[in-house]
Amino acid sequence: MDNFHTNIYNWYNINKRDLPWRKDRNPYKIWLSEIILQQTRVEQGKNYFYRFVENYPTVNDLANAHEDKVLKLWQGLGYYSRARNLHASAKIIASQYNGTFPNDYKSILALKGVGPYTAAAVASIAFNLPYPAVDGNIYRVLSRYYGIETPIDSSAGKKEFQQLAEELIQGQDPGMHNQALMEFGALQCVPKSPKCENCPVVESCFTYKNGLVAQLPVKEKK
Ligand code: ADE
Repeated sequence: MDNFHTNIYNWYNINKRDLPWRKDRNPYKIWLSEIILQQTRVEQGKNYFYRFVENYPTVNDLANAHEDKVLKLWQGLGYYSRARNLHASAKIIASQYNGTFPNDYKSILALKGVGPYTAAAVASIAFNLPYPAVDGNIYRVLSRYYGIETPIDSSAGKKEFQQLAEELIQGQDPGMHNQALMEFGALQCVPKSPKCENCPVVESCFTYKNGLVAQLPVKEKK
């Protein structure tokens, strides 16, 4: 492993938040947490996660629930299509997969409400499959560290970051790798005023060395 990996993983082991969906690698719980976190902050999402797991300990319990109750539990989170899709997917898992969560990327991606990011997060965290979870955090961390100026919202940028992210996850523990990068982007390499003064990879960060931290990542559209 190079310094980037080693330093980020060490940082993650020391700084990772104690989050309820990190207690085990139960795919149902990982999926539930990722759907909640699609448009909700971790602090708020935690309470809803607890509520859902308490009411529906397994994917079959969720599948058998009444939609009204599922939507009521979701109240306050907004974007209700997430709750409807969650419920519909639970029913599919119960009926088509016998209640066993699908364990390959394509089947996970085919679930309602699951896009490439969420599919990669679930596949990697729950099943240790090497799919990078590429979101805003990853764009920011990689653009800064490697000094990539391709706009993150251009099709060329999306390709370039995806490819780099795929290379970086090779040979690693995929679930840990994705969560370490997510957490690093969420807590350390934050959008405004990143914490370069105590950053574990500052010495090899292109953007820091070149005084460009305020300029990256680049966006095409404002
Ligand atoms: N945001 C999206 N997925 C997350 C996760 N697994 N942990 C923390 N924040 C996240």
